[in-house]
Amino acid sequence: MSSLDDQDFCVLNKYASGFMVSQVIFAACELGVFDVLAKAQEPLDSEAIAGRLDCSRRGTELLLDACVSLGLLQVDVRSGAAYYRNSDMADTYLATGSPKTQCHMLRYLGTTTYRCWGHLPEAIREGKNQYMKAFGVPADQLFAAIYRSEDERLRFMRGLQDIWSVCGTRVVTAFDLSTFPVICDLGGGSGALAKACVSVYPKCKVTVFDIPEVVGTARTHFSFPEEGRISFCEGDFFEDHLPEADLYVLARVLHDWPDDRCSHLLARVHHACKPGGGILVVETVLDEGGRGPLSTLLCSLNMLLQTEGRERTEAQFRALLSSAGFCDIQLRRTGGTYDAILGRKESCHST
Ligand SMILES: C[S@@+](CC[C@H](N)C(=O)[O-])C[C@H]1O[C@@H](n2cnc3c(N)ncnc32)[C@H](O)[C@@H]1O
Repeated sequence: MSSLDDQDFCVLNKYASGFMVSQVIFAACELGVFDVLAKAQEPLDSEAIAGRLDCSRRGTELLLDACVSLGLLQVDVRSGAAYYRNSDMADTYLATGSPKTQCHMLRYLGTTTYRCWGHLPEAIREGKNQYMKAFGVPADQLFAAIYRSEDERLRFMRGLQDIWSVCGTRVVTAFDLSTFPVICDLGGGSGALAKACVSVYPKCKVTVFDIPEVVGTARTHFSFPEEGRISFCEGDFFEDHLPEADLYVLARVLHDWPDDRCSHLLARVHHACKPGGGILVVETVLDEGGRGPLSTLLCSLNMLLQTEGRERTEAQFRALLSSAGFCDIQLRRTGGTYDAILGRKESCHST
């Protein structure tokens, strides 16, 4: 084998075992490895960790060493015994008590998303999501399938909000939104992005608009110390009257839907928008030509498996927004997972 073949073989093996890496992270989160180590005042050996997790010593040792190799844990060997502690990455993003924890999303990925990905060949053949095969539920009503039980709705909402503790400020400061004192976050879920808005813009108020079941779950299970500045409104954004606002936010909403549904929704938002008002679309945006980056292409495949939509390029967003009537459309890349696109209603008349 030439060294070039060798390199190709290594790359291929790395890709092929990618799912095992994910599973190590999912299992360690699910079992509570990072929480045990975050709570311990000192590094622990595998026997102590296995005891606290109520797991086998053999399995725990193998999992811990895989986590060390991935940089999630650190190990000190003293007198032949190994003592484990969280790496900074694990303390920040994997311990559930951290304000930046991503554990809920990892649990969602490790259960619901992972099961859907097991049906990728069928999804490609059929061109549609896989709720029927993965969970035995029909997906003719997309969000009825996504929210197939109260537990699943809570798991989804908790998972989705994790990212905003890391990327929320970046997204809401991509443009100066201080000129929009009243904001409506359409499909705003648990209100996590609304919290980022009110913490950055001291004068703004946000109405989170979502379907009644989601609003009910948000009120019951999520806390809102920003009392009075975040309110909820129940409704269907395809059908019902939209609350009055200076700015409408659609974060990770358009990627759930095909172009015709997006156009219908955007036309409704444009109709509700005051002259001078705006729309902020928050999505992970594909490169020009749509062939990268890989992370966004994988999100697009995930949209095939779990929704009716896809990720889009800047040109595709511009086309959707301008045909709904929005002008002055600008994309700001945030350097993080999600980018921001601002459109305006006002300048249509001035050009
Ligand atoms: C992918 S989630 C995004 C949640 C949130 N914007 C975020 O980025 O974390 C899509 C949201 O749209 C809401 N949604 C779906 N269909 C809706 C409808 N017809 N009317 C109102 N909200 C809807 C869902 O309940 C969910 O909260």
